Amino acid sequence: MDRKSERTIATSVLVIGTGGGGLRAAIELTNAGVDVLAVGKRPKADAHTSLAAGGINAALGTMDAQDSWQQHAADTLKEGYFLGDPRTVQIVTQGAAEGIHELESYGMPFAREADGRISQRFFGAHKYRRTAFAGDYTGLEIQRTLLAEAARLGVPIVDNVYITRILVQDNVVFGAYGFDLDDGTHYRIYADAVILAAGGHTRIWRRTSSRRDENTGDAFRLAVEAGARLRDPELVQFHPSGIVEPENAAGTLVSEAARGEGGILRNALGERFMAKYDPRRMELSTRDRVALACYTEILEGRGTPNGGVWLDVSHLPRETIMTRLPRVYHMLLDVQMLDITAAPIEIAPTAHYSMGGVWVRPEDHSTEVDGLYVIGEAASGLHGANRLGGNSLTELLVYGRITGRAAAKYSADLAVHRRSADAIASARAEIDELLAADGHENVRVLQRAVRDTMTRRAGVVRDEEGLTAGLSELDTIEKRMADVGVHPDIAGFQDLAQAFDLKSSLLAARATMEAARERRETRGCHNRSDYPDVDPALRVNLVWSPATGVTREPIPEAPQEITDLVEEVSQHGKLVE
Ligand code: FUM
Repeated sequence: MDRKSERTIATSVLVIGTGGGGLRAAIELTNAGVDVLAVGKRPKADAHTSLAAGGINAALGTMDAQDSWQQHAADTLKEGYFLGDPRTVQIVTQGAAEGIHELESYGMPFAREADGRISQRFFGAHKYRRTAFAGDYTGLEIQRTLLAEAARLGVPIVDNVYITRILVQDNVVFGAYGFDLDDGTHYRIYADAVILAAGGHTRIWRRTSSRRDENTGDAFRLAVEAGARLRDPELVQFHPSGIVEPENAAGTLVSEAARGEGGILRNALGERFMAKYDPRRMELSTRDRVALACYTEILEGRGTPNGGVWLDVSHLPRETIMTRLPRVYHMLLDVQMLDITAAPIEIAPTAHYSMGGVWVRPEDHSTEVDGLYVIGEAASGLHGANRLGGNSLTELLVYGRITGRAAAKYSADLAVHRRSADAIASARAEIDELLAADGHENVRVLQRAVRDTMTRRAGVVRDEEGLTAGLSELDTIEKRMADVGVHPDIAGFQDLAQAFDLKSSLLAARATMEAARERRETRGCHNRSDYPDVDPALRVNLVWSPATGVTREPIPEAPQEITDLVEEVSQHGKLVE
């Protein structure tokens, strides 16, 4: 490689990912007077956070004054089937209101009641109305708000940089390596600490609510290759409502807000089928239950000819749809020319959120690699086996702030910054070798093969035989990967990025399948047809690395003030207005 086409940058803290978590951390660092650089592979205004729809949770009590952070914590733990880390749950729920108030202070346009209170809506399985929102564009407004604050503070942000390696020497981070997606320029970035906020791995399923270059598992691969481990990668949330067609948009989300506002689910026979699965909570049951119910209706032949069920909001006042569900309204007109004020929407489960992720410490989201912090969907600990909708945006704000502070302190305390010429040479060579690859296998075809395998073998319902077969299919795809051709063209280096995405997908897929095989029980999102019950002995986290495979880790008990509220939720939860 021509060294002139390698750019070298040095900063104190590098943030990888320019969605909500990365931006919030970068703002914290800038406020602390620490040198920071945020890099993202997508244009910052269109980072994945901008897709988040229905809302962000905090026990503000603006609608239901009885709400409390303890109740929010109890709901989160219980509905996560007690696989969430109670310390993480407490930190997020206790810090949620501060996160909302910070956003307000940055100018976030939350929906409000006539008297000026922040409006809060129901989301599935919350005891009280605690989901604050901006129509169904909540993530987009949060992204805009954080970007405006970052711009005001002068936070440096570089778009279109694809990070391929975190640079590590003797288990200590010293930066990252990557390339420019437009012109291929290599980036060598020195940093005392790295905050990884680059999403999860839901794009490795065929139908997903993420776009092609998002959530391909790159954060998982970057962390694991740096020496970190993954926790519960098998726990993947399938959202009940992704659109079914057209094929190139299949999986695009219809926000849970549609059910929160009163939307109704029906099968092809016209039956309101949630009455069979959760008669008390109906459409506002937990996501895992609603997704499994939709899946079962379709599997048992009561689905639509296209393999979906109906979600109907056409009975709602037109004004409700226009003000509270504008994105769903416009999206369906754009992609299907369907007017949801007049006709139901055909939907089916879609891979939506990685509830597992990189193993992190609850207090500051540091990892077992010194100087590496992970936040957002890339991290683990909050959601357990079923995420409450609206909790992930909260987590971004709370841990963005905490991780920013922790990385600032780590950088300030660092006495020596050691680098490794070998680690840099190896990262450079990895890119150059792929650029020279001229084999017959096509990266996109292999990505499709991974997605087909994950959908068939590790979808909403799994079993031992399918997972074992899936792992051997991954072996085959990995062998084929050795013969890929990579062909950047005049338009840019997307083909190189996709080759790295494929590597990431394969790692994430293997971790998912191995952990899913080991979790021989049904719990939350993880449905094993051959083990249909919860196994109390598996109330553990499954921690994975390529070297150790899957190991079990105990989960601490929750404090009494939270567990006391858990029973109350299950007995008397008020879930519909
Ligand atoms: O359905 C939704 O609006 C998704 C929200 C979430 O995943 O938090």
